[in-house]
Amino acid sequence: MSKIDSETLNVETTVIDLKAGSEQQLEQAARILYDSFRANWPEAWPTMESAREEVAECIEMERICLAAAATDGSIIGWIGGISTYDGNVWELHPMCVDEDYRGRGIGAALVVALEKAVAAAGGITIILGTDDEKCQTTLGGADLYDDLWSQIKNVRNLNNHPFTFYERMGFKIVGVVPDANGVGKPDIMMAKRVQK
Ligand SMILES: CC(C)(COP(=O)(O)OP(=O)(O)OC[C@H]1O[C@@H](n2cnc3c(N)ncnc32)[C@H](O)[C@@H]1OP(=O)(O)O)[C@@H](O)C(=O)NCCC(=O)NCCS
Repeated sequence: MSKIDSETLNVETTVIDLKAGSEQQLEQAARILYDSFRANWPEAWPTMESAREEVAECIEMERICLAAAATDGSIIGWIGGISTYDGNVWELHPMCVDEDYRGRGIGAALVVALEKAVAAAGGITIILGTDDEKCQTTLGGADLYDDLWSQIKNVRNLNNHPFTFYERMGFKIVGVVPDANGVGKPDIMMAKRVQK
């Protein structure tokens, strides 16, 4: 458990292991997941039940699952990590912060906490896929088979897409999965090395 500097975050927050979370905290985590993806990724967790199932999977033993808790213990954001490639690479999945607490450094603190946990587990790289289903970036709606690497080099955020958040955290775009969510709706793949 690590205490995050409250001045940086403008809200006193502690990073906890969600695997040890109470029923109430797990329900709060499911609620944040459901609410956070509804607008831009409606198919991700279309019901509260599907969000509860995701939380249950994320707290399985072999995973990493960390949450930001407010002083009263309520969960205000959380992040998961899944081991792949024999533990060399961990997938960041999922990531969400309660809308009321965004823009205060909580997402950044959770990514840093995951990076430390992955490095401690011997992981080298964190990868993630961040979908663009609503043309929030210049990669959405584009023909990605036409000079892909120029399109990646010149990518722009058109409407609050989280790839910029991950770039701020040091992640690089390493590819795309064209049409991952239907024609013109790619998954943007990003990665960061966490071992020195
Ligand atoms: C993406 C998300 C986790 C960011 O959490 P947050 O607590 O608001 O992020 P932070 O306050 O730590 O932001 C860190 C930096 O990223 C920037 N940032 C955060 N979200 C951003 C966005 N959507 N677009 C552009 N920049 C963003 C912040 O401005 C900040 O920049 P700074 O370092 O220059 O101050 C949160 O907005 C969220 O839960 N969104 C909905 C679900 C989602 O998109 N999940 C990821 C899907 S792959």
